[in-house]
Amino acid sequence: MLGLKLPTDPRWVNIVEKNIEEILIDHAYCEQKAASTAISLIIGFPERTELVQEMTALVKEEMSHFKMVHDHIVKRGWVLGRERKDEYVLELLKFFPKGGSKTTHLVHRLLYAALIEARSCERFRLLSENISDKELAEFYRKLMVSEANHYTMFLGFARKYGNREEVDKKWEALLEYEAKIMKDLGKKETIHG
Ligand SMILES: [Fe+2]
Ligand SMILES: [Fe+2]
Repeated sequence: MLGLKLPTDPRWVNIVEKNIEEILIDHAYCEQKAASTAISLIIGFPERTELVQEMTALVKEEMSHFKMVHDHIVKRGWVLGRERKDEYVLELLKFFPKGGSKTTHLVHRLLYAALIEARSCERFRLLSENISDKELAEFYRKLMVSEANHYTMFLGFARKYGNREEVDKKWEALLEYEAKIMKDLGKKETIHG
């Protein structure tokens, strides 16, 4: 349903389990960045009323996810720490050419967001099914559902604002590109690492 071309190697969960503190800190920033993305879409495209409405709701939801992750960090006696580098999102950005019309730029940002939601959702599902910590397994099961909805929303907006056929072609190409990036990942205790 997520369209991803390459599933994450389940052994990634074993790496994560050895360093729960690290995955939670990285994850907290993923939620914060999701909220920041929603805010920057509002600022960049204020004339898209439906988008502004949905992004406003999304900011709240992603920040509530941030709080939940932060609560888990605090409860376990840890401190948030600095943002971790996300090589995955940096590599993904290289897919999109610079320039183009404002609408093209919007479509690219929506597809980019849709893919990050899809991969995060896939990673959360793996965690929910395989992590031995029961509390975190349940937590990730709930988040997985939210992120799946966000994936659908972003892809829907891309199709609505862009040319449907072109958007679908671009999405396919992006999925192929992402699978290549993923081949070298799945080895670190970060959400996309
Ligand atoms: Fe989230
Ligand atoms: Fe999300």
